Amino acid sequence: MTRGLFISFEGIDGAGKSTHIERVAQLFREAGRAVVLTREPGGTPLSEKLRELVLHEPMDALTEALLMFAARREHLVQVIEPALARGDVVLCDRFTDATFAYQGGGRGFDWQVLSQLERMVQALPDGGLRQPELTIWFDLDPQIAAQRLASARVPDKFESQPVNFFAAVRAGYAKRQAEMPTRFARVDAAQSMEAVGADVGRMVGDWLKRAAA
Ligand code: TYD
Repeated sequence: MTRGLFISFEGIDGAGKSTHIERVAQLFREAGRAVVLTREPGGTPLSEKLRELVLHEPMDALTEALLMFAARREHLVQVIEPALARGDVVLCDRFTDATFAYQGGGRGFDWQVLSQLERMVQALPDGGLRQPELTIWFDLDPQIAAQRLASARVPDKFESQPVNFFAAVRAGYAKRQAEMPTRFARVDAAQSMEAVGADVGRMVGDWLKRAAA
């Protein structure tokens, strides 16, 4: 049976990851793979309800972190683990790295507490930890991201944060990459859409070759 694959996509708001996730899905479908496209917070009816709350209601930092992980637990149990067990490709728009970057970096919430929650929520029966095998990080200067967002939609609770919040989120992603360099692939999201798309396609291709070797 084909082995399941778990890839996540990360970056500050405005980095432009959505279009590229759809393209990666297309690459896998063309290769004959079943693809599950999903997102966090969200991905199940209950997790989408939690998403509504965390994206729009003001709340305490620990409450916010707990709700992110509660939504993630439900998503893992109901969607991600069954898909991986079937051998599907799971493409997830944000996963735990976003909690470290936004709640840890952006909000300044305790990194060690997040690590404890991660170990609890993502524990595997064999004692391991469920993590994406590949994380594509769309890295962008927060000033450029803010310009891109200004002309876009009505901002949610996070998108309406000032540029220095996103600078701290970006530092959170960089810290996470330094802690887990092998699964992180950084893309320069300041490039043109085409150049970013080409980089992403190459990264996924290279990673698949390494995984098969
Ligand atoms: P996003 O994924 O950017 O969706 P959309 O493109 O529809 O706006 O929005 C999710 C927001 O939630 C984003 O601002 C990051 C934030 N977030 C966290 O703060 N912590 C998390 O753990 C996750 C998954 C997301």
